[in-house]
Amino acid sequence: MNDAAPMDLNAVAAEIRACRACPLHRSARQAVPGDGTGESGLFFLGEAPGYHEDVQGKPFVGAAGQFLDELLAGIGLDRRKVFITNVVRHRPPENRDPLPDEVAACDVWLRRHLEVLRPRVIVTLGRHAMGKFFPGESISRIHGKPRLKDGLVIFPVYHPAAALHQPALRDALFADFAALALYLARPPAPKPEAEEAKRPAEQITLFG
Ligand code: URA
Repeated sequence: MNDAAPMDLNAVAAEIRACRACPLHRSARQAVPGDGTGESGLFFLGEAPGYHEDVQGKPFVGAAGQFLDELLAGIGLDRRKVFITNVVRHRPPENRDPLPDEVAACDVWLRRHLEVLRPRVIVTLGRHAMGKFFPGESISRIHGKPRLKDGLVIFPVYHPAAALHQPALRDALFADFAALALYLARPPAPKPEAEEAKRPAEQITLFG
């Protein structure tokens, strides 16, 4: 849980809209800072705005967003109470992958949002978001389980867009969200930060 004031989120959003730190703002219609109050303690991190997000200025409002809504509703989460943003806040041309320099330039906004919201769990959607916390890892290896990184609980899952046309990934995503629900139903565990420092690359099981 957090006590972020909407004012704080609005202030960050205004700064993001004024951001010119990478070239993506030139081709995008507008910035897509993020959506939701985050009062549930859940923070969802996607890849980049697509066409519909660019038009509406909101993350995950296209087909992948509808599937994300279904996944959230399936475990009783109200989309308005989670926070949703992306690794880059402007749409890349032709929906290409964000470039490393663009991701690095946008890092400041991830840090600002995390400072304001102090989420209980960060759910990374897809490999680009996972790579912010576990560069070089394979999503097929670590999806569906919570992991600690720098005192943050990261819960990597596949990207909803990838699952739209791949039934196996769709099933994996439903299973990952069920595992997320199970994790959230438990009282927050004390974070074994000393252990984490000793075993940074190893999976830490938080399911007790
Ligand atoms: N895919 C993303 O990663 N983010 C969005 O906002 C929409 C689709």
